Amino acid sequence: MRSKVTVVGAGNVGATAAQRIYDKGYADVVLVDIVEGLPQGKALDMLEAGPILGTDASILGTNDYVDTAGSDIVVITSGVARRPGMSRDDLLLTNMNIITSVVTQVVEHSPNAMLLVVTNPLDAMVQRAYQVSGLPKERVFGMAGILDTARFRTFIAQELGVSVEAVATFVLGGHGDTMVPIAASTTVGGTPLSELLPPERVDALVKRTQDGGAEIVNLLKSGSAYYAPSAAIVQMVESILFDKKQILPCTAYLEGEYGIDGIYVGVPVKLGAGGVEQVIEFQLTPAEASALQHSADAVRELIEVMAAAG
Ligand code: LAC
Repeated sequence: MRSKVTVVGAGNVGATAAQRIYDKGYADVVLVDIVEGLPQGKALDMLEAGPILGTDASILGTNDYVDTAGSDIVVITSGVARRPGMSRDDLLLTNMNIITSVVTQVVEHSPNAMLLVVTNPLDAMVQRAYQVSGLPKERVFGMAGILDTARFRTFIAQELGVSVEAVATFVLGGHGDTMVPIAASTTVGGTPLSELLPPERVDALVKRTQDGGAEIVNLLKSGSAYYAPSAAIVQMVESILFDKKQILPCTAYLEGEYGIDGIYVGVPVKLGAGGVEQVIEFQLTPAEASALQHSADAVRELIEVMAAAG
């Protein structure tokens, strides 16, 4: 039997993620949105591509969470996106209420699902989803690190004129201005990045990565990135559905790892059929360790604002 993956939110990120999952035939997909006709129209259009792509999976668009029952993974993308000049944090209270309502309905129909949260501000929204869902921490996590890392890899590969696949690195921390590209342990074909680029170029690529989301928002003017984010979602879905146990930077609940306790933040994890099966702790430089703490503090501030708002 095929797995069942629900995508909540039929906007650009949700619809593109649903399309990528459906096109690969990985799972029967349900696309949910509150706007009448929108998920139905997009899903039917995708379904009609099936004969051309050779996909026998199903995809259903709906406004009713009853159709999501028994999902293995629920990808949550609903919420408002940034406009130019806004930070991800500006979305906090609006999206907090959306996440609360969505997660309540999701869990009612799929009590055994894993929740893959994508809504911004990401780390705070995963924390909210965890609290509202009552699910174990292994089953609630967020997508951001793969996207941020892919941006960093893209910029390094472009700069050096090498394959993106040659670039091995991680971006850790919160999905915001304080994210921490781990430049010191970045390698290109096994060679440390520091031997290939002068520090000021590395710093420039780190900065461009940190501003990567805003760069797209400023170009698009309405809406934010969705091609790379949806590709990142699919990599996580794959690692879970096929129990690949890939080591991927994901937003995971920490209980002392990296000296951080009780909050969600981006770290490398082993992602498999059990969800977040392990948080991988590796050696950071003192500067990176302190940048990660600073990033975790920024996440904690948002969580406190949410708690004060109820
Ligand atoms: C980005 C937004 C989606 O980083 O957070 O593009």
